[in-house]
Amino acid sequence: MTELPDRSIEKDSDRGESSTVQIREMNIDDIAPIFHLGEQLFTSDLYPYLYRTWDEWEVIGMYNTDSEYCLVAEIDHQLAGFVLGTIINKASWIYGYITWLGVNPSFQRRGVADRLVDKIIERMIEDNVRLMLVDTDPANTPAINFFNRKGFGNAREHVFLSLNLAKHDYYGRLINYERDKAERNRPRLRRRS
Ligand SMILES: CC(C)(COP(=O)(O)OP(=O)(O)OC[C@H]1O[C@@H](n2cnc3c(N)ncnc32)[C@H](O)[C@@H]1OP(=O)(O)O)[C@@H](O)C(=O)NCCC(=O)NCCS
Repeated sequence: MTELPDRSIEKDSDRGESSTVQIREMNIDDIAPIFHLGEQLFTSDLYPYLYRTWDEWEVIGMYNTDSEYCLVAEIDHQLAGFVLGTIINKASWIYGYITWLGVNPSFQRRGVADRLVDKIIERMIEDNVRLMLVDTDPANTPAINFFNRKGFGNAREHVFLSLNLAKHDYYGRLINYERDKAERNRPRLRRRS
C-alpha cells in the first residue's frame, strides 16, 4: 500500500494564517476541554438534539471504546477542535461513522475540521472502511455545507419525536406514583442512617 503523506503538521500559509494546525490522538487530559468545547457548540437553542445527547459520558465512552478514532486539533497548543468517530461492521460492509465534530469558534473556517476529517478517514480506510456516515441537525448549515464540500451527499431526513412523560395521561400518573413512593420511603431511609 502506498504510504500516505503525514499531514499531521501543516502550515496554514495557503489560508493566510501563520499558525500551525496539529492533529494528534486524544489523551485523557483532553476529556474535560473537549466536553466543555462541545457544550459551547451544541447549544439547546441551535441544535436541541445535539445538545441533549452531548454529555461528559459521551466523551469518556468514545475515548474508552474508540480512542483510535478520537482526534484533536491544536493551534499554538490550544484546543482548536475535535472529532470522535466509530466503526460499524454490518452485513459485510464496514462503515465509518463521524459521531461528533467540533471546532472552537475562534478557529473556525481555517480548515481545522477539514484536517480532522481527513485524518479520521485516513485511519478508517486503513481499517477497511469503505463508506462514511455522518448525521446532524437539518438546520446546521455550517456542518451540512462542510460535509457537502468534503464530498458527503445522499442526504436523508430522519425524524426525531419526543414525548414529555410528565404531561402524558398514563406515564404522568406513573411518575406521580413513583414520586409518592419515594416520599413515603424517605423517613424510613433516614431512620436507617
Ligand atoms: C461544522 C464545523 C465543524 C466546521 O468547522 P471548520 O473548521 O470551520 O470547517 P473548515 O474550515 O474545515 O471548512 C470550512 C467550510 O465548511 C463550511 N462552513 C463552515 N462554517 C460555515 C458557516 N458558518 N456557514 C456556512 N458554511 C460554513 C463551508 O463549506 C466552509 O467552506 P468556505 O469557508 O470555503 O465557505 C464548525 O462550524 C463547528 O464546529 N460547528 C459546530 C459543531 C457542529 O455543528 N458539528 C457538526 C455536527 S456533530
